[in-house]
Amino acid sequence: MKDGFLDKLITRLDRFSPSEVQNLVSRLVREKGFMESVFEALREGVFIVDPDGNITFANRAVHQLLGVDTTRCIGQKVNSVIRGLDWNSLAHPDRVVTRDMEVFYPENRFLNFYLAPINGQVGNEEEHLGYVMLIHDITESKKAHEESLESEKLNALTFLAAGVAHEIGNPLTSLDIHLQLLGRKINKLKGQEKEDLNSLLGTAQQEIKRLDNILKQFLHALRPQDSVREKVPLHNVLRDTLETLEAELIERDVKVNLELAENLPLIDLDAGQIQQAIYNVIRNAAQALTKDDGQITIGTKFTDHEIVMSIADNGKGISPEHMGALFEPFRTTKKSGTGLGLLIVRRILREHGGEMEIDSEENKGTTVNLYFPRIEKHVRMLESDASKPLIDVESEE
Ligand SMILES: Nc1ncnc2c1ncn2[C@@H]1O[C@H](COP(=O)(O)OP(=O)(O)OP(=O)(O)O)[C@@H](O)[C@H]1O
Ligand SMILES: [Mg+2]
Repeated sequence: MKDGFLDKLITRLDRFSPSEVQNLVSRLVREKGFMESVFEALREGVFIVDPDGNITFANRAVHQLLGVDTTRCIGQKVNSVIRGLDWNSLAHPDRVVTRDMEVFYPENRFLNFYLAPINGQVGNEEEHLGYVMLIHDITESKKAHEESLESEKLNALTFLAAGVAHEIGNPLTSLDIHLQLLGRKINKLKGQEKEDLNSLLGTAQQEIKRLDNILKQFLHALRPQDSVREKVPLHNVLRDTLETLEAELIERDVKVNLELAENLPLIDLDAGQIQQAIYNVIRNAAQALTKDDGQITIGTKFTDHEIVMSIADNGKGISPEHMGALFEPFRTTKKSGTGLGLLIVRRILREHGGEMEIDSEENKGTTVNLYFPRIEKHVRMLESDASKPLIDVESEE
C-alpha cells in the first residue's frame, strides 16, 4: 500500500460517493488480504504487536514453531503467549533486538527472533505504530555447531590420551629390558633362591605384558589417523578388522556369524577410520558376552541411498538408565575401558556423513547399526507428462 494512501483517503472521505467508498474499501481489503497471504506463506513466524505489547497479527508458522493458536492469541500480551519473554526490556521504539531462545513445546527447538519497531508517518508526524517480531528455526544449525564443538573436544581428548599412552610405552619398554637383564642374573643363581626369584620375575613380566597389551589396544582404538577416502569394499575392511581381533575372539570363544549382502556397492571410505570404528563396536560386543554360546552376528544390507552394517551380540545388554550415558566420555563399566570407544565410532561415522544407532535389551543382547550414505545418488528419470518442461517455449518460426 502506498505511503500516505490512508491519510489522503481519510481527509477526502466526504468528497467520495458511496460507490467510490465501496471501491476503496474493497481495494483496502484486497491489499490487506494480499499482505496476509504473503505473511502466511513465510516459513518464519511473524507477530505484529501494537506499542503496548498486544498481538494484532500472527501467521501460521507461529503455530508450528510455538504451538500458539493464531486466532486466539490476537489481543493478548506477547509475554503471556510466549512465557519467559522479557518483553519490557526487549521492546524499544528505536532499537532492533535479536535473541535466541529454546522452546519445549510443541517440540524442543532453538529459535532466533528479530524484533523491530514499526514507525510510520501519521499526518506530518512520525509515530511509533508497534513492532514486528520475526521468528526462525535455528535448531539444525545449532545442532551442527554443537556437533562440531563436540568433535573438536573429542579430537583434543583423543590426542591427549593417545599422547599419554604413548609416553607410558617408553618406560614400559625400559622396564621390560631391565627385567630381562635381571632374569639373566637370576639364572646364574642356584637352588630355591633361583626358583623363588624367577617366579617373582615371571609375575612382574606377565604384568608388564598385560599393561603393554592394554596400551596397544588403547592406541589402536584411539589413534587419530589421517583421512584418506577411497572406494574400498566395506567387506574387506570388515575382514581386516576381524583379523586384528582374531586372538581376542578366539580367547573369548566367540562365534562370529556373517550375513553379508551380495554385490554391496562401493562407497568412498577412509578404510583406516572405518576399521577403527568397526573394531570398537565388535570389541564392545565381545566384551559384553557372558554366556557359553557367545555369538556376534555381523550383517550388511543396502538400499538406494544407504548401506547398513549391523553388529549384534547376545551379551548382557545395556540397562535403560545406562543407555542415555553411552556417549559420555570416560563412562565405562569396564575395569580397563576408556569410555571413549563409542564416541570415536560416532565421530568417524559422522565424518562419513553417516550415523549410528544402538538398540539393546538387558540380558538379551545389543545391536549396533552403522549407516553409511551412498554418495552417488541415482536419479530416476520420469517419463510421461512429468518430464515435460514447466514452461513450453514456442519455437520461433
Ligand atoms: N555391545 C554392548 N553390550 C553391552 N554394553 C555395551 C555394548 N557396547 C557398549 N556398551 C556399554 O557402553 C559403555 C561405553 O562403551 P565404549 O566403547 O564407549 O567404552 P568402553 O568399551 O567402556 O571402553 P573402551 O572402548 O575404551 O574399551 C561400555 O562401558 C558398556 O557398558
Ligand atoms: Mg569399547
